[in-house]
Amino acid sequence: MLYALPRQSYAPGMTLADTAASTTSDTLLGGPELPQERRLVTAIPGPRSQQLLERKAAAVAAGVGHTVPIEAVAAGGGVVVDADGNSLIDLGSGIAVTTVGNAHPAVAAAIAAQAAQLTHTCFMVSPYASYVDVAERLNRLTPGDHSKKSALFNSGAEAVENAIKIARKHTGRQAVVAFDHAYHGRTNLTMGLTAKSMPYKSGFGPFASEIYRAPMSYPYRDGLSGADAAAKAISIMEKQIGADNLAAVIIEPIQGEGGFIVPADGFLPALVDWCTAHGVVFIADEVQSGFARTGEMFASEIFGIVPDLVTTAKGIAGGMPLAAVTGRAEIMDATHTGGLGGTYGGNPVACAAALAAIDAFENDGLLGRAREIGGILRARLESLQHDDPRIGEVRGHGAMIAAEFVDPDTKAPDAALTAAVAKAAIAEGVIVLTCGTYGNVIRFLPPLSIPDHLLNEGLDVIAAALAAH
Ligand SMILES: Cc1ncc(COP(=O)(O)O)c(C=O)c1O
Repeated sequence: MLYALPRQSYAPGMTLADTAASTTSDTLLGGPELPQERRLVTAIPGPRSQQLLERKAAAVAAGVGHTVPIEAVAAGGGVVVDADGNSLIDLGSGIAVTTVGNAHPAVAAAIAAQAAQLTHTCFMVSPYASYVDVAERLNRLTPGDHSKKSALFNSGAEAVENAIKIARKHTGRQAVVAFDHAYHGRTNLTMGLTAKSMPYKSGFGPFASEIYRAPMSYPYRDGLSGADAAAKAISIMEKQIGADNLAAVIIEPIQGEGGFIVPADGFLPALVDWCTAHGVVFIADEVQSGFARTGEMFASEIFGIVPDLVTTAKGIAGGMPLAAVTGRAEIMDATHTGGLGGTYGGNPVACAAALAAIDAFENDGLLGRAREIGGILRARLESLQHDDPRIGEVRGHGAMIAAEFVDPDTKAPDAALTAAVAKAAIAEGVIVLTCGTYGNVIRFLPPLSIPDHLLNEGLDVIAAALAAH
């Protein structure tokens, strides 16, 4: 079905600030041409969305949930439009994926052109250039100027699995350390690495062996300096595992699903130094924090660390399924030929999308836009926190910011308030996501194409929802 909606100016080559300020135009090359407005014409869900949700309940496995009860039909700039004609403000980017903007014109054009030419050969059967192009771009963009190589996959979990495979092969060791509050995916190995039981792991065991958990630096709750928190984690690694048995330490530089936890200064560098001294592969899982989300291309840069391996996915390809492991050439090359791969990994359509998205990250001022968005989010949320101590902490970097909701007297997590605020915001046409081991964090992950007025309006709605609860 076609949606004859007024056009929003958003053409390749424009900066996103231009986009946000622009009005309608007929001179566009395509892409998200939606009015940049919050518009509710029915209750959420409206009747058409309701119909789809009923069909979903009948046809789709119950385990596949959803947060926002709509039938999404179009998205772009800072909105998602549903089948009933409602236009919702998007503060979630499909969980940190559409960072360049949904249906970004250059990404959509690259997908269409590639799909018309060649959709698949399997890179392991007949290589093609776009896979190598993406690898070259990743090798250049990820932290560190050492010699690097990449391998491409389909999902974040698959990238994490392969990073562990590579680290084990390189070191000849088996143990892996992950952290409290970590999220690394839903496959068997990555469920084992993930910390939270419900809903990710409960009932799905047994999990892979040789996975150990260390305490994360969580300044709001542990009160420790980065050095002290690292010493605690390192002590566990030394005493309970032994460096000689440890293949890899995997960590999200800023944790995603676990609650946007930003470690104290010095925590990550101390871990990297310890890993380097003991021949342990340090893996930064940048699946959620990567690709301009934090105002740096990768969150590792905020902390001044150079990981041995970096896993990426989500924002890499503007919404197409693509993931990667990138890292030191000698580690990446430790695996025998044929040891890495998969039928679809580095699919040419996904690679074409990634090249267009990476162009946008590099040329459209997106790092600056992420920082601007972060400034707006942080100022508004801190002012809310000033008036309402149930916001225990506002934290994050760039367009990856969160508010943790607590009992002001005890700091006990307040998951009920968090859920109520998020539900009310969604009912008012603002897409927000929650996260956190204790379910008491609202996270803000807007597309970088969101105009300021929508971001501010979304925050007004959250403030009203909070005041009402
Ligand atoms: C840090 C991190 N690692 C891995 C994953 C898993 O990625 P995917 O859902 O693409 O398998 C996620 C997904 O949220 C993530 O945030």
